[in-house]
Amino acid sequence: MYIGFIGLGVMGYPMAGHLQSSGHHVRVYNRTYERAQRWVAQYGGASAATPAEAAAGAELVFVCVGNDSDVREVVCGANGVLSGLQSDSVVVDHTTSSAELALELEQSVASCQASFLDAPVSGGQIGAENGALTIMVGGCDEVFMRVEPVLHTYAKCARRLGPVGSGQLAKMVNQICITGVLQGLAEAFAFSEKVGLNTNAVVEVIRQGAAQSWQMENRYETMLAGKYEHGFAVDWMRKDLGMVLEEAERVGLALPVTSLVDHFYAQVQAMGGGRWDTSSLYARMQREHRKAEV
Ligand SMILES: NC(=O)c1ccc[n+]([C@@H]2O[C@H](COP(=O)([O-])OP(=O)(O)OC[C@H]3O[C@@H](n4cnc5c(N)ncnc54)[C@H](OP(=O)(O)O)[C@@H]3O)[C@@H](O)[C@H]2O)c1
Repeated sequence: MYIGFIGLGVMGYPMAGHLQSSGHHVRVYNRTYERAQRWVAQYGGASAATPAEAAAGAELVFVCVGNDSDVREVVCGANGVLSGLQSDSVVVDHTTSSAELALELEQSVASCQASFLDAPVSGGQIGAENGALTIMVGGCDEVFMRVEPVLHTYAKCARRLGPVGSGQLAKMVNQICITGVLQGLAEAFAFSEKVGLNTNAVVEVIRQGAAQSWQMENRYETMLAGKYEHGFAVDWMRKDLGMVLEEAERVGLALPVTSLVDHFYAQVQAMGGGRWDTSSLYARMQREHRKAEV
């Protein structure tokens, strides 16, 4: 297939790579051109000067940028995807953005006689690199069936969960789960250190029991080593939790733990950790303990 891919960040870069490596003809666009050049040197394929050029002639156009306004800019802005989109194509948004934006884009894309799916992902940088992401999809079943085989070049699970917007709502459920788990890990590790245990040894044992989680498996070593320059950025998590809390308020549901951890993430940002991995909640806890000890 001829495929356009917009946004070669931590996630988009390897995802587009899997598409090209599996035999599709991929034309990438990245705002910072050097990254697109590096991608072409690594995988082959082609690069485009604008999102419109990446979309021109493509049967599928994937977008994986930052937030709602970034998606609007690359899809609806000057030289955006809509300016190059061919009829009967499908635009798939892998960005974690709002359900409201998904509905808005469904309309905009339909005006080009094309279709839209919201398809946020989970599984992190490692999932993108290993082609093992989980994808939550919103949109029409027939359109999903056209795109599903292509999604499996970088996903171990891709499932349609309802009409457009459902993918983004499901991703919110995912983020609520992760938020509580990560704060739980930060508190558990802080407790373990405080009572004088060898936390690495403790985790080697408890990861084989009921406390096991993706976050524990993939983050305990870096958390205990104080390494956060990787993974899923706190800035992105705050963006996601902002959408979660807004949606929860809209439906009249209180999310006390999620609200509290969102507040903790604001403190991590104030520590200079906006680009740190979300497991840096542990760095915040360690700082709180040092303050308490003084
Ligand atoms: N990282 C993860 O573990 C993870 C996991 C699940 C979901 N996500 C979600 O996936 C999306 C991408 O995350 P990421 O970690 O790949 O982010 P990232 O590394 O910060 O990359 C963002 C990409 O979007 C581009 N971009 C941002 N704003 C733009 C704009 N206004 N116009 C054009 N291009 C723009 C950036 O271009 P430049 O190169 O020019 O900056 C870059 O290619 C986010 O919505 C995030 O919440 C991330």
